[in-house]
Order: sequence, then C-alpha cells, then structure tokens
Amino acid sequence: MLRTLFLAAAGSARLGRLAEIAPVSRGIVQRFVAGPSADEVLLVSRGLVDDGLAVSLDHLSDETRTIEQAVATRDEYVAVLGRLKGAGLTPAVEVSVKLSALGRRIDEKLAYEHARAICAAAAEAGTTVTLDAEDHGTTDATLETLAELRRDFPSTGAALQAYLRRTEGDCRELATAGSRVRLCKGAYAEPESVAFPSALDVDKSFVRCLNILMAGEGYPMVATHDARLIAIAEDRARWFDRSTAEYEFQMLYGVRPEEQARLTGSGHTVRVHLPYGEEWYAYLMRRLAERPANVGFLARAVASR
Ligand code: FDA
Repeated sequence: MLRTLFLAAAGSARLGRLAEIAPVSRGIVQRFVAGPSADEVLLVSRGLVDDGLAVSLDHLSDETRTIEQAVATRDEYVAVLGRLKGAGLTPAVEVSVKLSALGRRIDEKLAYEHARAICAAAAEAGTTVTLDAEDHGTTDATLETLAELRRDFPSTGAALQAYLRRTEGDCRELATAGSRVRLCKGAYAEPESVAFPSALDVDKSFVRCLNILMAGEGYPMVATHDARLIAIAEDRARWFDRSTAEYEFQMLYGVRPEEQARLTGSGHTVRVHLPYGEEWYAYLMRRLAERPANVGFLARAVASR
C-alpha cells in the first residue's frame, strides 16, 4: 500500500510544488539527490570520484511536453559535460539520458538530434552516454536510436530491464564487441503480457540475461542493490574469465553505500547513478516506493529539524 501511495505522490505535480517549498525538503532530499544545479552535482561527483567511485549523472526533469523543455534539457547536458571536462572529472563521470526528456513524445527525430548533440559533447569531454530504459512501449525506439548513435559514437550504452520478457533476446543482440549494456530489474508498472509479474521470475530473468552478457563480448554494467544478484554476477565473471576491468556494478546514490565501498575495495568499478536538478520530487517518491524502510530516514530528517 505504501508503494502505491508513493508512486501516486510521484505523479502529483501539486504535491511536488508543495514539497519544494516545505522547510524539510533539503535534508530529506540530500541522501538521494546531489542538489538542484550543476554546481552541486560537480561537487558531489568530485567527492565520489575521490572515494574511488565512478559516476553517471542524471538530470531530473519534469515530463517534457514542449520543444523548449527538450532544448533546455539538451543544453543542460551539453553544459555539464563541458564543466566535467574542465574539472578533470572525465572519464570517471559519464551521463545517463532519457530520450523522453529530450522530446521523444513530441518529435522522435528531434529527440534523436538532441541525443546526438549530447553524445558529441560527451565524446569531446572524453566520456560516454548511457540511454535509460523507460516504459516497454519505448524499448524498440530506444534500441533503434542506440544503433544509430553507435555508428558515430560507438561507446554509447543502453539500459535493459530484466522484468521484460523480451530482454533475453535483446541481451543476445547487444552482447557484441564494444557494446555497453546496463542490466537492471526495471522500474515501471508493466502488464503481465510483456513483463514477468513475480519478483522471483524477474530475478531468474536477470540471471539468464547476466549469463548472456558475461558470456558475450560487450561490457556488462550490473545495476542492482540485490546482494544475491551481486554475488551471482561476481561468480559469473569468474566463470567466464572476466577481470574486474571487464564489467562494472552500478547503484543509486544513497543506496547501500557500504556495499559500494566493499565492491570498490575488492577492485571492482562501481558507478553511482547521481541525480540532480530542481525536479527531484518524483524521483525521491520512487525511491521511497522501492523501499518503504527509507521512510524511517525521512521521519528522522523531519524530527531533527
Ligand atoms: P530490489 O528492489 O529487489 O532490491 C534489492 C535490495 O536492495 C533490497 O532488499 C534492499 O536491501 C536494497 N535496496 C533496493 N532499493 C533500495 C533503496 N531505495 N534504499 C535502500 N535499499 C534498497 N530502471 C529502469 O526501468 N530503467 C533504467 O534505466 C534504470 N536505471 C538504473 C540505473 C541504476 C544504476 C540502478 C541501480 C537502477 C536503475 N533502474 C532503472 C532501477 C531498477 O530497475 C530497479 O527499480 C531498482 O534498482 C531496484 O531494484 P534492485 O535491483 O536494487 O532490487
């Protein structure tokens, strides 16, 4: 029930505006979000990189409904990539991008052009771009965009969602030399016709996908906080004779930091997915929906003010 509540709150623009003016906002948000602007995200990135972590920046934006919003998102990414280079934070810091934020719902071609501009800025800065996975209705279009982008920017990566029944096949297609695939469980509410409904089946699919990616020639990016799946990934890497330089783990900023440190300490690359931007509210509600135990953290943040 709490999950439903937080997901509903994530979609409520009115609640979001209220929360942004509430005095408790900053303390609560800081655990999961770097801050509202590029200044804060550069500062937090510096700290993470100094701690031996890699980073993927995610600019949080409201649902993109106008061309102006899409252009502003493109410009934000291009500007932050320039600043990352200037700060000597590349290649340790890359960027994650949602094609919907670049205007896909308004004009597919425009979103593609925006993604190209971001890939060009990333190449200029000496780093990479990963396309986030969104709802299942967009998977084909995202993978087509990925293929086009990779012609000029071969290091562009994409996320695949283990909860989708199709994903084993997508992993097979993408387990090729030079390909970077982020494997995650999947975060959208999807119908049974396209996604496994049970957590156990999602985990089993994750392992099948992991086997394909680890056996293949690409670079697997294992995005999970699940201790069992992390252990299986380490095991599969050994089985397929991959060194720790030939795959990486990814986790969200603020989630299981002690596990991030343990993996880094054992020689793994751990990339922290670091969100920033004014539109932090829906993102925070989704993190709370994933793990209602985080509500305890929220309650403490409120009590301590
Ligand atoms: P699961 O949710 O089963 O959690 C396993 C364990 O991890 C929990 O039991 C708990 O111990 C711990 N944990 C999980 N969440 C926590 C939290 N918020 N706070 C504290 N502990 C927590 N999805 C998508 O659809 N498209 C995408 O592009 C991406 N991209 C992406 C990048 C990265 C780097 C990550 C880590 C995740 C994504 N996701 C995503 C989200 C992903 O699909 C999924 O919803 C979440 O990662 C949660 O799934 P887990 O694999 O962590 O397992």
